[in-house]
Amino acid sequence: MTQSPYAAATRDPQLLRLREFSFGAEDFQALRTLVKSLTGIHLSDQKRELVYGRLTRRLRALELRSFAEYRERLKSDPQELAELCNAITTNLTSFFREPHHFQYLRDRVLAPLAADPHGTRRLRIWSAACSSGEEPYSIAMTVLEALPDPGRWDVRILATDLDSEVLERARRGLYPADRIGNLSPGRLQRFFTPCEQAGGICHQVKPELVALVTFKQLNLIHTLPMRGPLDAIFCRNVVIYFDKDTQRELFARIARLQRPGDLLFLGHSESLFKVCDSYALIGKTIHRRL
Ligand SMILES: C[S@@+](CC[C@H](N)C(=O)[O-])C[C@H]1O[C@@H](n2cnc3c(N)ncnc32)[C@H](O)[C@@H]1O
Repeated sequence: MTQSPYAAATRDPQLLRLREFSFGAEDFQALRTLVKSLTGIHLSDQKRELVYGRLTRRLRALELRSFAEYRERLKSDPQELAELCNAITTNLTSFFREPHHFQYLRDRVLAPLAADPHGTRRLRIWSAACSSGEEPYSIAMTVLEALPDPGRWDVRILATDLDSEVLERARRGLYPADRIGNLSPGRLQRFFTPCEQAGGICHQVKPELVALVTFKQLNLIHTLPMRGPLDAIFCRNVVIYFDKDTQRELFARIARLQRPGDLLFLGHSESLFKVCDSYALIGKTIHRRL
């Protein structure tokens, strides 16, 4: 009895590679080299299926028949290079993710500043891979809650990401119900306005939060255009995608933007160990510039 290719594939893992588009080792190799040079993101062999899954929708959107055609297209289409970056980045985030960082900011940075009658009243914070905005808006909420009279302070939160699509969402500041789970009813009421969107309730960030945050597209492997000094940098859950050399280079540039005492927050599985010795570890993934 003859078997359908699908029936055979379900039994033989080798044949599971039967796909809508053929995706050979040379396709994966060429794409991962390109992605590394564009974004710094290192794609290990284990990421091959993920790359296939994320890029097939690009092939379909462009009505291409193969990854060879897609690679050709990338040579002459800068817009598609941006789409490639957007498709490859992982944008997982949430409000007050890793909450101890925001508690530290409140108790150890903002509270002493607020209590100091002779302080500068100037604060510069950078969210270096801000994704769809939850991180910088969480910083902004923390600032507004901690400073008694925020209008009399010069506070700027710069929020950057490589991915143009998530930046667009961040600027819009409109979050569906399933994205606001970490927000207390009090915060939701103070900082968001509920609105109807596509038949569901969404939450729009209020102007007082928007006023504190500036969104910009910035690739962390390129020159950092800001001058500094930056009191605090949130560079969380992004360098995990970079190899150690790329991390070393990035943190050497980041360190130049900070003065002794300034703070650097990393993601829960990231570390400066053997990467950068310009900082002291002072808490869980919290570093102080030496
Ligand atoms: C997992 S999200 C982290 C979001 C947020 N920092 C957090 O911890 O919740 C990682 C973000 O890093 C961004 N990213 C990846 N490579 C980048 C690069 N070379 N330059 C700037 N951003 C990059 C991605 O677009 C993505 O939005």
